Amino acid sequence: MSPQARRVESLHTDKGYVPVYTTAVVEQPWAQYTPVEHDTWARLFRRQREVLDGRSCGEFFANQERFGMNAEAIPRFDDINAILARSTGWQIVGVEGLLPELTFFEHLANRRFPVTWWIRKPEQIDYIAEPDLFHDLYGHVPLLLDPAFADYMQAYGRGGVKAHGIGADALMYLTRLYWYTVEFGLIRQRDGLRIYGAGILSSKGESIHCLESAAPNRIGFDLMRIMRTRYRIDSYQKTYFVIDSFEQLMRATQPDFTPYYRELASLSTIAAGDVLDGDAVIQRGSGEGWSVDGDV
Ligand code: PHE
Ligand code: CO
Repeated sequence: MSPQARRVESLHTDKGYVPVYTTAVVEQPWAQYTPVEHDTWARLFRRQREVLDGRSCGEFFANQERFGMNAEAIPRFDDINAILARSTGWQIVGVEGLLPELTFFEHLANRRFPVTWWIRKPEQIDYIAEPDLFHDLYGHVPLLLDPAFADYMQAYGRGGVKAHGIGADALMYLTRLYWYTVEFGLIRQRDGLRIYGAGILSSKGESIHCLESAAPNRIGFDLMRIMRTRYRIDSYQKTYFVIDSFEQLMRATQPDFTPYYRELASLSTIAAGDVLDGDAVIQRGSGEGWSVDGDV
């Protein structure tokens, strides 16, 4: 018998947002989703379908269709897994909320992607600070059908397990890489810049902002540069990094990072909005609306 699935959410205290971690893998309690929860999925699904038309990367909609994802109802994890099993061999596992780093890396290293089983409340349609089912399933899972991206995610998990054994700084560098690729990455395709980062794909506002706004920088992918760059967790990104292909991501991250971590320790960090001399600048942001502090 698997344990009852809990809904583990971050705490909002007078000191701000406090993440709460949980490690259990749970069965998706699909029969318990309420009509309101299915409707939240439907509203978000329809809205992003419209916003991401012409903005999401090539295979994103096609992959959602291969999964049979639609606005009708919250998808069943078992159905998703049947499709994943016969394509890239990934599986999704239900989780109750944020995982501790090492637990998360171990899942990825074994081609398991953790998906939060619960969905946000109607009043959180536009913004929720932590990952929920919509972010994880709608945003992250479609790319697991892409062979190169699927391999990148597993390699990242293995690298994470290794970095965890090296120390806190190594983990911080890797987290920045995840942030600026898997969560907030852009890709240059034949018809222009497109979104592949799940943090953008699950957000209406940022889907438009990241491509159309004059405020943010858009800069060509540079591994070491990214691992030095701080980021924003409470606002749109000040800088987006642009890859040319998932193969480029794979190639750049293939080497052993141990010497990279040593070198990074001697280099200064870069503020989220800074542009450096060596940057491959696609757009230099106007910086409009940026708050001065708050980079992590
Ligand atoms: N090659 C990296 C290492 O040795 C692991 C890694 C792979 C990191 C893919 C990020 C992405 O640590
Ligand atoms: Co995410």
